[in-house]
Amino acid sequence: MEKDIIVDVKNVSMRFNLSSEKFDSIKEYFIKSVKRQVTIEEFWALKDISFQVERGDSLGLVGLNGSGKSTLLKTIAGVLKPTRGSVEVKGTIAPLIELGAGFDMDLTATENIYLNGAILGYSREFMSEFYQDIIEFSELSGFMNVPIKNFSSGMLARLAFGIATIGIPDILIVDEALSVGDFRFQEKCEERIANMRNQGTTILFVSHSLEQVRKVCQKLAWIEHGELKMFGDVTEVSEIYAKSY
Ligand SMILES: Nc1ncnc2c1ncn2[C@@H]1O[C@H](COP(=O)(O)OP(=O)(O)OP(=O)(O)O)[C@@H](O)[C@H]1O
Ligand SMILES: [Mg+2]
Repeated sequence: MEKDIIVDVKNVSMRFNLSSEKFDSIKEYFIKSVKRQVTIEEFWALKDISFQVERGDSLGLVGLNGSGKSTLLKTIAGVLKPTRGSVEVKGTIAPLIELGAGFDMDLTATENIYLNGAILGYSREFMSEFYQDIIEFSELSGFMNVPIKNFSSGMLARLAFGIATIGIPDILIVDEALSVGDFRFQEKCEERIANMRNQGTTILFVSHSLEQVRKVCQKLAWIEHGELKMFGDVTEVSEIYAKSY
C-alpha cells in the first residue's frame, strides 16, 4: 500500500542571526556598521533535518532545552520559513505552539475565543457553535468575561487547548502546552488527543515528560543541537534517549 505522507520535512536548516552587541541608538549602529565593527554571528538552530509523518501517526519530539524542537514545529506550522530545505504539509493545522500566541491579554476570554478563531481561519458562526464546548472543556465558565491577563498560566493553557482542539484538524501540534496544567487537566488533554487520533488527526507532540510521550505517541524524533539524532519507534528511541543523559 502507498504511504500517505502528511508532513514531509526535507533537508531543513534554520539560521538565526545573533548580533553580539547592543546599541544605544540607530546612529551608533550605523557608524559601527560603516566601520565594520558590527559582528553578526550565525547560529544554526536546525541542521539538515529530514523525516516524514504518515497520516494518522502521532509523533513525539524530545531533546534538551534549546535543541530546536519549537523551531522545527514552527517551520511545520508555517510560522517560520526554513533557511534551507522545504516542508510540505497536506491539510489543516491546529497549532498549539506558544502559550498566549494569538491571545490579546487585554481582552476577555470570550473575546479571545473569537480572536483566535479568526486567526485560525474559522468563521464567527463556527466559533459560536463550539463556544460552549470550549468553556466546558476548559472549566472556565465563571471567568469568561475576565481579561485574560488575570489568568494563571494553567488557566491560559486550558483556554488555548480548548480552542485548538475544536473541530477535527488534519494535524494537531502541541508544544509543551500541557505541562503547566494540573495532572487532572493533563489527563483530560491526553484523552482528547486520543479521541482526535481515533478520528484520523495526526499529532505532533513536544514534551519533556517521557512518560507522557510514551502515552501519546507511536513514533519519536530525538533532536540534539539542531540535528535529528534518532527517529523511530517510541519505545526504542525513548529508551536510548533516557539512557543517554
Ligand atoms: N528568533 C530567534 N532568534 C535567535 N535565536 C533563536 C530564535 N528562536 C530560537 N532561537 C534559538 O534556537 C535554538 C533552539 O530553540 P528552540 O526554541 O527551538 O528550542 P527547544 O528545543 O524548543 O527548547 P525548549 O525545550 O527549551 O523549549 C535556541 O538556541 C534558541 O536560542
Ligand atoms: Mg520549545
